[in-house]
Amino acid sequence: MIPQLKRALRENNASYRGSIPPWSACVRAVFCSHLRLLWHVLMFLTVLCVALQLLSAVRQSRNKTKPSDHQVINPLHDEQQDAKSIMKNLNANQAAFRHFQWSGRKEEGLNRVSEPVRHLTSTNPKLVIRVDIAHDPKGESVVGREVPKQAHLQKGFQLELQPELQLSGQRHDTKQVSSFLASVRNGTCQPTNHVVFLKTHKTASSTILNILYRYGDTHNLTFALPVNMHSQLYYPNFFMSHFVEGMKSHRVTNFHIMCNHMRFRGPEVRKVMPLDTFYFSILRNPVSMMESLFTYYKSIPAFHNFKTLQDFLLDNGHSYSNTALSNHYALNILTFDFGFNNSAPQSEEELDKRAVAIISAVEREFHLILISEYFDESMVLLRHALCWTLEDVMSFRLNSRSDKSRKSLSAEMIEKVKKWSSLDWRLYQHFNTSFWRRIDTSLGRAKLQEEVKLLRAKRAVLEQTCLLGGKAVDPAQVRDSSLKPFQYGQAVIQGYNLRPGLDNNTHQLCQRLITPELQYTMALYKKQFPDLAAKMAAKLVINSAKKNMHHKARKANAPQLAKDNSDFKGKANLAKAKQKKKLK
Ligand SMILES: *[C@@H]1O[C@H](CO)[C@@H](O)[C@H](O)[C@H]1NC(C)=O
Ligand SMILES: *[C@@H]1O[C@H](CO)[C@@H](O)[C@H](O)[C@H]1NC(C)=O
Ligand SMILES: *[C@@H]1O[C@H](CO)[C@@H](O)[C@H](O)[C@H]1NC(C)=O
Ligand SMILES: *[C@@H]1O[C@H](CO)[C@@H](O)[C@H](O)[C@H]1NC(C)=O
Ligand SMILES: *[C@@H]1O[C@H](CO)[C@@H](O)[C@H](O)[C@H]1NC(C)=O
Repeated sequence: MIPQLKRALRENNASYRGSIPPWSACVRAVFCSHLRLLWHVLMFLTVLCVALQLLSAVRQSRNKTKPSDHQVINPLHDEQQDAKSIMKNLNANQAAFRHFQWSGRKEEGLNRVSEPVRHLTSTNPKLVIRVDIAHDPKGESVVGREVPKQAHLQKGFQLELQPELQLSGQRHDTKQVSSFLASVRNGTCQPTNHVVFLKTHKTASSTILNILYRYGDTHNLTFALPVNMHSQLYYPNFFMSHFVEGMKSHRVTNFHIMCNHMRFRGPEVRKVMPLDTFYFSILRNPVSMMESLFTYYKSIPAFHNFKTLQDFLLDNGHSYSNTALSNHYALNILTFDFGFNNSAPQSEEELDKRAVAIISAVEREFHLILISEYFDESMVLLRHALCWTLEDVMSFRLNSRSDKSRKSLSAEMIEKVKKWSSLDWRLYQHFNTSFWRRIDTSLGRAKLQEEVKLLRAKRAVLEQTCLLGGKAVDPAQVRDSSLKPFQYGQAVIQGYNLRPGLDNNTHQLCQRLITPELQYTMALYKKQFPDLAAKMAAKLVINSAKKNMHHKARKANAPQLAKDNSDFKGKANLAKAKQKKKLK
């Protein structure tokens, strides 16, 4: 302002010097420059206003488009955002798991057992009642960790418990407790529809898969299937939620059952499955399992150079490399499948420490661990835990070897396996013990045996009804090629033939019972995602057509190519012959 004023004064002085008195020029200059200044300020403010308005409009529209942009550009980001809230929910959930969940329909009286607590994460808040459970007189500390899964089991299972034993932790009104037990006994439990089954290897898990597939199929439940019609959830990679079809696209919002092979990772699984999901798995004695693994996975680097399992065990792991692809099948595979480091512990202390950590983590995340050696007992336990019927857990043995390829081990070799798979051995021993303890504190062995007998009788009837010859046959004898089981390694996986002339309903039931894993997985994928399955089928047709054309073109015109081809074949044959020699 001051330089302007000076300039104006100077100009005025120059033009009007002499004619106009200097004070009036001064006043005019000051007055004019004030007006000009005011005008400038107003202009500036107007521009500022417009700019601000434009800016806010732009920002608003950007905010509106942000989420969808995000989904397109980086769907994983949302998942990461979700992860935080899910972890929060999980903490609440784990607290809630400690209390018995009840939908509170018929059992009004029960809700007064103690203060009802709101289910923290549900949009439709369920009532959760506190019923402290299962203080095992034999081992307080272990049972403390078992509370979450037992709390869930409570729903359908702990029927025959003595009230004093069951609720020893709190002084509940015994009348209310016995009415609670009565209502459970009356079969008012609700069947569980949200299930995660961690499918382990060589543990009769394919048979359980069939049970879950049939249950979900007949009840029209939604499976968390692998993307792109894969048969496994990208095992042996750690599970990621986007391995599930319909997850990334948000096409499916409520999954019921997840049961395909995966390497377990709890937080990712919980992104897919609802909070009230029942988690279970199955273990097998690592000794017989090792024999089975050796036969089935004979071609992996760890086993490749050994003719027999005994040779492999006598090597004491000297030639074992934990970095070679697929070698995890040879060492603590159960530990690996549950998502832990399967490397061999170097000392007894390390073994103790790691085994305790693994066992307590598994107990935190799983409600029930079944035992392959007691398969029928496991099915009875499972059906009570899920509040399912005995028919629901009925099955034929699937993906099972013929006895021809089974071998037994010497006592010395058995000890070697236990030492080699020390983590798995600890895991198995622990859960075998807790399996029987749970039977003793819930059903009781007499009731268990009763149901096991019933299950076997029903299965025998079903086998006679469904199966030609009433039993499993070698794959070569399976007539319907679409029902041939997948063959792998040196094991002979048996299959079944259906009896002809069954009525439609029986035929459907029988067919489902004997459909091998891969075929059933594909069928369910087609049922859930008919459009995606059709697209994939079309792609396959195109690809094979392309291959055919390519093949024909090569055949038709290029003798050089043909020569290359035969050269290549010759080399391949040579390599094969060499390999054969080596093996011998
Ligand atoms: C359970 O069944 C018994 C008779 O079988 C009946 O008297 C009782 O009221 C039932 N309890 C509940 C909670 O439904
Ligand atoms: C499942 O879906 C099929 C076909 O939509 C239907 O016929 C059947 O009744 C459904 N079953 C159940 C248990 O909802
Ligand atoms: C597994 O544990 C071993 C020994 O504790 C360690 O050397 C190795 O790096 C671990 N592997 C992974 C993948 O964490
Ligand atoms: C598993 O538990 C049962 C019942 O206690 C026992 O008889 C069996 O020997 C156990 N198996 C192993 C391998 O420890
Ligand atoms: C059984 O299925 C066949 C073909 O799948 C059909 O033609 C027939 O009508 C069905 N019978 C009954 C009783 O549903």
